[in-house]
Amino acid sequence: MSQAATSLSDSTPQAIRGAFLDFVDDPFYVAASESVRYIPDGLLVFQQGKVLAFGAYQDLHSNYGAIEVTQYSGKLMVPGFIDLHVHYPQTEMIAAYGAQLMEWLETYTFPTEAKFKDADYARKIASFFLDELLRNGTTTALVLPTIFPQSVQVLFEEAQRRNMRIIAGQVLMSRNAPDSLLNDAETAYGQTKEQIQTWHGNGRSLYAITPRFAITSTAEELALAGKLKREFPDVYVHTHMSENLKEIELTAKLFPDCKDYLNVYEQFGLVGDRSVFAHCIHIDDSAFQRLSEAGAAIAFCPTSNLFLGSGLFKLGQAKSSQYPVKVGLATDVGGGTSFSQLQTMSDAYKVAQLQGESLSVFKAFYLATLGAAKALALEDKLGSFDVGKEADFIVLDLQATPLMALRNPVPHAESLDQLAEKAFAMMILGDDRSIVATYVAGNLASIPT
Ligand code: GUN
Ligand code: ZN
Repeated sequence: MSQAATSLSDSTPQAIRGAFLDFVDDPFYVAASESVRYIPDGLLVFQQGKVLAFGAYQDLHSNYGAIEVTQYSGKLMVPGFIDLHVHYPQTEMIAAYGAQLMEWLETYTFPTEAKFKDADYARKIASFFLDELLRNGTTTALVLPTIFPQSVQVLFEEAQRRNMRIIAGQVLMSRNAPDSLLNDAETAYGQTKEQIQTWHGNGRSLYAITPRFAITSTAEELALAGKLKREFPDVYVHTHMSENLKEIELTAKLFPDCKDYLNVYEQFGLVGDRSVFAHCIHIDDSAFQRLSEAGAAIAFCPTSNLFLGSGLFKLGQAKSSQYPVKVGLATDVGGGTSFSQLQTMSDAYKVAQLQGESLSVFKAFYLATLGAAKALALEDKLGSFDVGKEADFIVLDLQATPLMALRNPVPHAESLDQLAEKAFAMMILGDDRSIVATYVAGNLASIPT
């Protein structure tokens, strides 16, 4: 079990020395030389969970000479990964064979999620899930629990024990699923309201109104979700959209008056600058434009999109300069096949390749750090080493396996070009074995092995 943060290490300033990579701007729009911040010999000073100072070691060390410094030689420090869309109850059914979305939900997903009525069981899996995130260097995630309030409560409780910034909300489902996973829309409205009041802004926890997708909600339920969003404008909206062709066909039948899938959510006031839509694979120019204008975000889930045969996300179009849409990287476990954001970047690269585009290592890391923080409107708190931000960061090993050591015989990079080459090989070959340490609000997470 992870240890709760100790107050001693919180109040005493600490420092880390080594190579640091983060972003000061978006590398999709601004050249790497201006958007990437790489400090080959840097110093990060933090206290009470926040960054106190950050810069070149030679510029800072005289000011912080009395502080004990932990040195990570030959390693690379980056901000903690953010997973913009993941299902904790699906942890135990990852890698389920042979089905595409609708059949996969019926055969594997719904029966598994029904088990989360049992709070003890839900806590056991929530605990495993959060440790698995940390083991993979993910310090923040936007998470779907289930329809059961107790599955939400145990997730937030376990996240708070680890001091992790987790965003989640009770999954709203009122039709087109087994009876064991259906809730009455009014009841769910009341439960969600109570949970928002309990959890939103409680410690590092934040709340997301979470209709599963248009198919499993009645119009009444989506209207109540919209009402909640009006009552609590600073909570998130989190759902799925346009992932699979059969799903889109059924959605059109269920909502015949809506001109497209996005319009279903628009009609109910669910599309705004704190809305995150997972997938958005089969959407047209108009939907991209409307998402851009609303300031909404897309969770790009490449391992899931490949595994479930859903299709290829048009990252290039989403990041166009005419109608830019905020995009963050997401695992979507258990549709996704790995908790590792390195593995997810590796598949994102391949999804881009299949469409004649190349995703640079810097763009990929941006999508899992500052880009995802922006998608959550949390860039003032997360996603880079800027002074005042929360000290969530990880230590990466570019030589984590014999093959990676052969590929990267010298782990340290002096220039941005050298770093791009070495870090790219790590992103393609790496996984949880590359995560040497995960710091959550300045505390080294202790993760069960
Ligand atoms: N759409 C509705 N529910 C789900 C889910 O659990 N996983 C994925 N990938 N898509 C969904
Ligand atoms: Zn999902």
